[in-house]
Amino acid sequence: MDNLSCTMIIFGSTGDLTKRKLIPAIHELEKGKYLPNKFKLIGIGRRNISQEEYSNMLYKGIKEYTNIETNQKLWNKISEKIYYLKMDFTKLSEYKKLYEYLLEDNKSKEISSNLMFYLAVSPEYFGAIVNNLKENNIIDGNNHWNRMVIEKPFGKDFESAKKLNNEITKVFKENQIFRIDHYLGKEMIQNITMLRFENSIFEPIWSNKYIENIQIIVSEKEGIGLRGEYYDNTGALKDMIQSHLLQILAITAMESPENFNMDSIRNAKAKLLEDLVLFTDDNNEENIVFGQYEGYKDEKGVSKHSNRETFVAMKVFIENERWQGVPIYLMTGKNLKEKLAQVNIEFKKPKNTINNKINIFDLEKNIQSNVLEIMIQPQEGIGLKINIKKPTKMNKTEVAEMEYCRTCLSGLNTPDAYVKLLLDVIEGDSTRFTRWDELSHSWRFIDSINGEFIKTHKYKAEGLGPDKAYKMINEDNRKWWFLDKWEKTNENI
Ligand code: BG6
Repeated sequence: MDNLSCTMIIFGSTGDLTKRKLIPAIHELEKGKYLPNKFKLIGIGRRNISQEEYSNMLYKGIKEYTNIETNQKLWNKISEKIYYLKMDFTKLSEYKKLYEYLLEDNKSKEISSNLMFYLAVSPEYFGAIVNNLKENNIIDGNNHWNRMVIEKPFGKDFESAKKLNNEITKVFKENQIFRIDHYLGKEMIQNITMLRFENSIFEPIWSNKYIENIQIIVSEKEGIGLRGEYYDNTGALKDMIQSHLLQILAITAMESPENFNMDSIRNAKAKLLEDLVLFTDDNNEENIVFGQYEGYKDEKGVSKHSNRETFVAMKVFIENERWQGVPIYLMTGKNLKEKLAQVNIEFKKPKNTINNKINIFDLEKNIQSNVLEIMIQPQEGIGLKINIKKPTKMNKTEVAEMEYCRTCLSGLNTPDAYVKLLLDVIEGDSTRFTRWDELSHSWRFIDSINGEFIKTHKYKAEGLGPDKAYKMINEDNRKWWFLDKWEKTNENI
């Protein structure tokens, strides 16, 4: 088996994801010369379009949806590797066409290229596709590897996710399945592990002994766009918390992995997700805030009576020795004031302050918590708030904010998450993909939330989200640290 070839077969190849993410990622991989020598891409779709129309559509997508630099010469080179195959992927007999195309250049009459199947279609088709591939002998043969990439949503609760998983694992083994959570490909999320384990100023204090609370926010400025139907059936809890926010939490709070290979990191993450304290009907209302932006019910594809949440703020706990008693606040929402993703780690205030020792100081009330801020997007970087003495004033402190802005450094252009994730699939590294046990624990956690008990509060479009989300944290004598960021971003406007 060689690693010099790869044929990527995209199901759903005329859709948004292909145009906005997959083709731009392939473009960047070609530009950086990362693709295997023998690389081909087969776009499967039902539309009756020519090769040329398909290629033009993809090229237009790059220019329309991304700001990556491209030119006709480079695109021609990529376009030569792309083939559009018109077929109905729900029909078993149609797969003959795919099989024959894959055999085309192969004199031995056996598929020799490694195969990456990318399912950018609705999950209801997953079972049929894997079965049809199997029935048509496409994934047989010992001469090549087969890897299956699956987009979310992976189910809508634990039971449906399990059913889906059973369908896929009848044909593919766990190590051949790459469940994408594109947040895991984001630069600063990968950096969390490095920041924590490679710095002795953080790792020893990464526990309830020194950490007061953790906050994770992913806010979006845009509404639901044209995805009304999907979104109205899903909501922010399942669209964002179940996947991206829980994955960020797992990486931030996991125990130290035995080593840093793909299994041990995912073991540590799975264990953390298993240790999340489940909700009960009694504490749903108190610890979870749902919101819906004004005007949501008028969006295309949304029911006029919809109670669907477009915003969630929640307080969760982890039941293990390291995190006992430390609240984790999560917030996500659409149509908010700013697009922002960050993790804030708030440390406990020092007990042994100068104030306790020398009476002339009146520091205690001025002392702020140290906060480590991991900025995921749009700005990538790290911030640290520390207390220092105010110049010339003996008994006054002020907060010094140290900031490392990765994206502000000229010449640094972080590749999109999909670039790294596709390369991972080609290389067979599934560290940054969600394993079934992680997924099953996160669904169990989400299933413990009973939406019926949670009121959905209205909030203004492009606003801060419902007041209740602020009340929830203020009642705990804490504040959302990301607000500092929003205020600062506004100053810069
Ligand atoms: C997707 C969600 O997984 O992530 C979308 O389905 C959301 O609703 C998107 O908008 C956010 O991704 P990013 O990378 O723009 O923060």
